Amino acid sequence: MRVTMVGSGYVGLVSGACFADFGHEVVCVDKDPAKIASLREGVMPIFEPGLAELVAHNVKAGRLSFSTELAPAVAEADAVFIAVGTPSRRGDGHADLSYVHAAAREIAGALTGYTVVVTKSTVPVGTGDEVERIIAGARPDADFAVVSNPEFLREGAAIDDFKRPDRIVVGTDDERAREAMAELYRPLYLNQAPILFTSRRTAELTKYAANAFLATKITFINEIADLCEATGADVQDVARGIGLDNRIGSKFLHAGPGYGGSCFPKDTLALIKTAQDFGAPTRIVETVAAVNESRKRAMGRRIVAACGGDVRGKTIAILGLTFKPNTDDLRDAPALAIIQTLQDAGAKVRAYDPEGMAHAKKILENVSFAEDAYDCVTGTDAVAIITEWNEFRALDLERVHGLMNHPVLVDLRNIYRREEVARYGFDYVAVGRQGTAKRRRAADRTPRTSTEADAPAGMAVSVAS
Ligand SMILES: NC(=O)c1ccc[n+]([C@@H]2O[C@H](COP(=O)([O-])OP(=O)(O)OC[C@H]3O[C@@H](n4cnc5c(N)ncnc54)[C@H](O)[C@@H]3O)[C@@H](O)[C@H]2O)c1
Repeated sequence: MRVTMVGSGYVGLVSGACFADFGHEVVCVDKDPAKIASLREGVMPIFEPGLAELVAHNVKAGRLSFSTELAPAVAEADAVFIAVGTPSRRGDGHADLSYVHAAAREIAGALTGYTVVVTKSTVPVGTGDEVERIIAGARPDADFAVVSNPEFLREGAAIDDFKRPDRIVVGTDDERAREAMAELYRPLYLNQAPILFTSRRTAELTKYAANAFLATKITFINEIADLCEATGADVQDVARGIGLDNRIGSKFLHAGPGYGGSCFPKDTLALIKTAQDFGAPTRIVETVAAVNESRKRAMGRRIVAACGGDVRGKTIAILGLTFKPNTDDLRDAPALAIIQTLQDAGAKVRAYDPEGMAHAKKILENVSFAEDAYDCVTGTDAVAIITEWNEFRALDLERVHGLMNHPVLVDLRNIYRREEVARYGFDYVAVGRQGTAKRRRAADRTPRTSTEADAPAGMAVSVAS
């Protein structure tokens, strides 16, 4: 089939390359000429493992090409995917649909013959209806169907997720569109990936419900981590103890600095707003978003507490800036709020990330950037691991200890074992587990009053110190 992707970012580019790999003829369109020029030269505008090879292979086979010209690519296509951004709208947190609507208008002008217009961007319930109105309004003669096909891939494992999805969700009432979508995904269907055909509105809502549920799971274990710290329990064992229950499952139960990234923060907010507008508020999700937001700064305060409560004039090393490993994406990364909190408290920040440095240099102010992890910790008063990149999992701790002014290690991803770190003489602070500092044993403490218990997680550690 002939496929056109409108928007060649993380989702459009990966989906386009994978559809080409299935044997379809794909044009990835983007209005950013620099992105298209770079793709034409074989240089990926994003970091995603395996993507450069997949793109090169399919370009060479003549199935994948790149263009800034939407009209000719749409005119030729059997299916046109809208994969543009849907960021939070400034001010109110609703999904900003201006890029989707603009894409729909452009597509309308170029349609020829029966075309399936597929919304892959994450969009609120009812957006498909609006896209249909826009196209029909601009081109009453056009023969088309608007389908919802939300994308569930994860950055860092995007190709594998696209090629081996847990499920494919397709929302449409149009029989021809359904057949076209089945044909597009046939190679996966043969691989037994379940395709869930449903209504367009159901498909749209399914995407938000999935992300809100995952965000809830993360936030739940983060609050349990705070309780573990207060009671002397170990959150990793609790997570394993509940995760082995098949009804719960072990994924997304890693306590940490709070969720970030290009999807969960904006999608939970958009769901909250949609639910309020429809008079069916999602109070659990409202709480999840609020708890997660306050957690990021609380993690900054945790680092301050680990430094004895005062970081004025001290230098803190930050290892990991991206919202998770194996991506260069810094959108809504917890590191951003943590760094701001440290700077507000008077600290100097030195940072290193394996893939996020280029983006970080554009958005972070007054941060000095290091060449590698060892360069980053040199002469610093504390080091905080914010993102669990593999290269931070096996640091030469003796060397790190020797390079630092003060050996304070704040491990916000729980990647080290306390005993191991203690051997090198670090003052170690983790999440939901006891650290190494000479602390009053949490288990000896009596329950706090409700006012104390409401204190942010970072403060709880200093209370326990
Ligand atoms: N990033 C993820 O992991 C992920 C996963 C699942 C779903 N999603 C959803 O997919 C959508 C896209 O996300 P992304 O991360 O790929 O965004 P992105 O910002 O990386 O890419 C969007 C691209 O669309 C281009 N664009 C915008 N308007 C255009 C137009 N009219 N014509 C041509 N190109 C245009 C932009 O230049 C940009 O390159 C969002 O709705 C997002 O929520 C993202």
